[in-house]
Amino acid sequence: MLEENARELLKKYGQEHILASYNHLDEAGKEKLTNQIMSIDFQKVKELYEQTKVRPTTGEDKIEPMKYKSAASLSAVEKEKLVELGERVIKENQYAVVMVAGGQGTRLGHNGPKGTFDIGLASHKSLFELFCDQLKKARDTYGVVIPWYIMTSRENNDDTVRFFEEHDYFGYREGVKFFFKQGEFPMVDTEGKLVIGEDYLVKEAADGHGGIFEAMVNNGVLRDMQERGIQWIFTCAVDNPLAHLADPLLVGYAISEQVRVASVSIVKNSPEERVGVFCRRNGRPSVIEYTEISEDMAKAVDENGEFLYGEAHIMMNLFNINVINEIAKEKLPYHSAFKKCNYLSESGEMVVAEKPNAYKFETFIFDAFVRLEDMGILRYQREECFAPVKNAEGSDSPETARKLYEAYYNL
Ligand code: UTP
Repeated sequence: MLEENARELLKKYGQEHILASYNHLDEAGKEKLTNQIMSIDFQKVKELYEQTKVRPTTGEDKIEPMKYKSAASLSAVEKEKLVELGERVIKENQYAVVMVAGGQGTRLGHNGPKGTFDIGLASHKSLFELFCDQLKKARDTYGVVIPWYIMTSRENNDDTVRFFEEHDYFGYREGVKFFFKQGEFPMVDTEGKLVIGEDYLVKEAADGHGGIFEAMVNNGVLRDMQERGIQWIFTCAVDNPLAHLADPLLVGYAISEQVRVASVSIVKNSPEERVGVFCRRNGRPSVIEYTEISEDMAKAVDENGEFLYGEAHIMMNLFNINVINEIAKEKLPYHSAFKKCNYLSESGEMVVAEKPNAYKFETFIFDAFVRLEDMGILRYQREECFAPVKNAEGSDSPETARKLYEAYYNL
């Protein structure tokens, strides 16, 4: 019998359809489902589902432009000084990289973790191998092995680890320290009902790249870094092969600005571009999502004709190790994403989704910024650091990324 408490919870929140699963499970499965039910925050699920009906806006928040520094405006002497500061950190083994690679990559539609994807370069190297190449180059340049930690999810962890094993870590075995799994959150359908997966359990999905902070603390990544004496942690996405994993300028900039977090930005290419932009929100650093920004705000320009809210966040962030615990203490807010989700119908048939049919709830790494008094933003040129691989075709696709990569590296 399903524990009375679990049954009551399902009843209270109108999720009794889960019971249909129960009878299909063996004893171990039944226990798993019961534990899962007892661990779900049903009230939160309900609230988040209700929020999906409301278009996100900045509401009453006071939004102001955020200052930034353009790397192109630095003189050669200034730049050299900052690079020297940053290089010192790297050479003294105080620098590490964490890559967020737990996403589902639904838009790309590649069968496997996104990092295993070949964007079509003549070398046919995968995204993971391209990043390994960068870290091996840094090893040659600075004479140190930069520790690399890779955040995966339950769904793609095994395939990711196997890929590295099969390729002997592309010659960077000594640098790959941890694969660590991020947290999860249940998915709901358009009626707010929990979705059942193939295994008759409640379907949960990775809780967004904002899960990085908690996952670093819970999986011992932070402790490992502390033991190594790491001071600065660079985080980036797996789907931008032009992200520079060892950038002394960014580190030097953060140190000279005396900030604990510094991000790379690029200028938004049009008011409609689907990127989040930096701003100050009620006095604190923040990012406004493209779904949240008003048309007026997106189009607003200053006296030089530059967008007032034009500094796009591209997932290249540098954190001082001291802020990680602080941020991880409290859950970041969830946002909903409407995604394709295969599920088990009440009659027990597996339904393959042809189009988005369920909500996934995700936290975003940049929602951590508002917890800081201040941060630095360093603007780079788009072509030197941004080649996203998001869609199978068209914009931000393997083809556009390949061309950008080839142009940058003169291939
Ligand atoms: P995106 O938000 O673009 O998502 O991820 P995605 O999973 O790659 O692709 P879609 O939206 O399903 O098509 C940006 C980065 O954040 C990571 C991704 O792996 C990518 O590096 N990410 C995303 C996570 O690590 N965990 C998540 O839960 C979501």
